[in-house]
Amino acid sequence: MTQSSPGTVTRVYRGLPPGLFQPVFELRRRLLRGRAWEDGLGRAHRAAFRPLRVLQGPFAGTLLRDDRPRRDLPSPKHLGTYEIELADAVEALVAEQPRRVIVIGAAEGLYTVGLARRLPEAEHVAYEGLPLWRWRAERNARDNGVADRIDFRGFCDPNTLRRDLGDAAAARGTLIVCDCEGYEDELLRPDENPGLAHATILVELHPMFREGIEETIPARFAATHEIERIEQRERTLDDLPAELAGLDADTAMRAMRETRRGATPFLVMRPRRTGVTPADD
Ligand SMILES: C[S@@+](CC[C@H](N)C(=O)[O-])C[C@H]1O[C@@H](n2cnc3c(N)ncnc32)[C@H](O)[C@@H]1O
Repeated sequence: MTQSSPGTVTRVYRGLPPGLFQPVFELRRRLLRGRAWEDGLGRAHRAAFRPLRVLQGPFAGTLLRDDRPRRDLPSPKHLGTYEIELADAVEALVAEQPRRVIVIGAAEGLYTVGLARRLPEAEHVAYEGLPLWRWRAERNARDNGVADRIDFRGFCDPNTLRRDLGDAAAARGTLIVCDCEGYEDELLRPDENPGLAHATILVELHPMFREGIEETIPARFAATHEIERIEQRERTLDDLPAELAGLDADTAMRAMRETRRGATPFLVMRPRRTGVTPADD
């Protein structure tokens, strides 16, 4: 799989408010005649509008539009190498069959759409604070036929999450997937939101935004949850999907590279099955 990116033209398209995509393409069809322009815009059009399938991992088969294309490189999300260190953990969480999934920080929807495909019986809620990203997530959900099964919402604050979780009985069987750039510090406070003691939580920690978060979150949940910490690791050529096994090593390594501002470890926190939790008191 190779994806070409025409760069500037695509970036201009992506900068348009959602409702303007189609009219702008219509205008292009009427106004432009030159072959070079036609080719460039044709590529931009395809890159902007054509969804590609995720090739491997827990979300294999999910259709995803490439919203951040890099010239001639497939994206880690399409390769299925994005957050590959979580693949086994996500499989295990899916096998536990949560009855409700709440994704906080949905971005373009890989997790919420992927989990809606894997868990057709569950209730799905997705929070994304930025309207353009929420629109992209909804578009990806439509492409995958799961839009009517995901309740898309805007910014998630501690009150909305407290209302979502409710009491112990309501919170049980809920899986929270939280990747929100440091705001996990505000959201994951079981002293203020007792339902959290009964939810399973997959959280990406952002110590570059919240000093000490790697210690504070585990400490808050130590009494109520079994906690597994998962570190990021370097990608290797063995991580490539079979379809791309022949890709040259340099291109492959560049394609799998994820842009991160520093180490962001993950925690998988499962409520303990025995013992008294605060909301049971
Ligand atoms: C790094 S992205 C998440 C990527 C996503 N986990 C994925 O793998 O596709 C973080 C997103 O969280 C959103 N965000 C941050 N805090 C939020 C909040 N409290 N409620 C909703 N969205 C939030 C940001 O707008 C951003 O799109």
